[in-house]
Amino acid sequence: MLAFNQRFKQAISERRDRDLLRNVVPIKGRNDRLFSHSQHCYLNFSSNDYLGLATDKTLMKEWQKGIDLYGNGSGASPLVTGFSQAHQELEQSLCEWLGFERALFFSSGFAANQAVLFTLLAENDLLVQDKLNHASLIEAGLLSPAQMKRFKHNDLSHLKTLLDRECMVVTEGVFSMDGDLSPLTEIKSLMAHQGLLVVDDAHGIGVLGEEGRGSCNYAGVQPDILIVTFGKALGVSGAAILCNQLIGEYLTQFAKHYVYSTALPPAQAFAICRSIDMVREQSWRREKLAELSYLYQVKLSDFCESINTLTPIKPLIVGETGRALHIAEQMKKQGFWLTAIRPPTVAKGSARLRVTLTATHTKDQITALTKTLKSVLKDSK
Ligand SMILES: Cc1ncc(COP(=O)(O)O)c(C=O)c1O
Repeated sequence: MLAFNQRFKQAISERRDRDLLRNVVPIKGRNDRLFSHSQHCYLNFSSNDYLGLATDKTLMKEWQKGIDLYGNGSGASPLVTGFSQAHQELEQSLCEWLGFERALFFSSGFAANQAVLFTLLAENDLLVQDKLNHASLIEAGLLSPAQMKRFKHNDLSHLKTLLDRECMVVTEGVFSMDGDLSPLTEIKSLMAHQGLLVVDDAHGIGVLGEEGRGSCNYAGVQPDILIVTFGKALGVSGAAILCNQLIGEYLTQFAKHYVYSTALPPAQAFAICRSIDMVREQSWRREKLAELSYLYQVKLSDFCESINTLTPIKPLIVGETGRALHIAEQMKKQGFWLTAIRPPTVAKGSARLRVTLTATHTKDQITALTKTLKSVLKDSK
């Protein structure tokens, strides 16, 4: 057997032995609050579609309208002929909404994060990241030419000890697996304009702040660079880096993920523009989320596994991988889809169910979820 194949086989079987193997699950039809898989119907508490826009009919029609106007694909990278009027309108809309001079688009948040770190950092630079930052940021930091230091999650005292020279500080606005917020105001004031503050707000945009402007607006902080993704609360896909003219121009010239990649389909840019309008205008979606979030937390207040958050991400930290898998399986048997999150996505011993609420859930569904969770949690002790 080729040494390559030997290595691949071994890594997969080690994962399987430690209950860490992941599977792709084909969902039938739309990824709605109710979906069907393998002849069964499940209530979905495992999507990032916080505002319920991924299957919103009005938004679907807008995307179809975008296809009528612009066709299917962009046909080229943005610096060739892939940048259209729809992209220009999206840039204007985002900059006006979030208060930046430039926005550059990427096919995913993963690519946008990598573009920021790979392009802006050089040898001898210092990069400081929260330990729980997303894999795209940590990996890019490790591979970048800069020196990377990581501070303990949200630990300002630790961060302070690392800020001894000009640097780039990178944090998520809302942490994806914990649902907690970064102390952005304090980080900004610790930095005292001695570097660039970069915030990945994949899970805050649309959900927090005035008109859904995200965790920076919620904290009253304007970072130097903001990354927003369109595949979570905005219900579509893709991402943007928001920044000033200088950084925007530098990225346009040198960011390989931007220059050498096919631009987002213009119809998608058109749909994202409409999604932003809906996010801004339809505050009832955020109000509904807040109501459901409160109900969920009250119902599970007696359970130490349940962590209260200000966001729709509600981790239930159960510790061992086997217990997390068992709970997810039991919940599935009763019609609730909750994905078990295991190492290496989270630290060893902190396996969890990542419960996510969306504006399309009903109070009755939250009540049913918490009732079943309580009994499954008790039985799994
Ligand atoms: C914090 C964070 N940043 C970036 C990403 C990547 O975004 P995308 O799914 O658009 O690649 C994710 C997605 O899981 C995320 O949770």
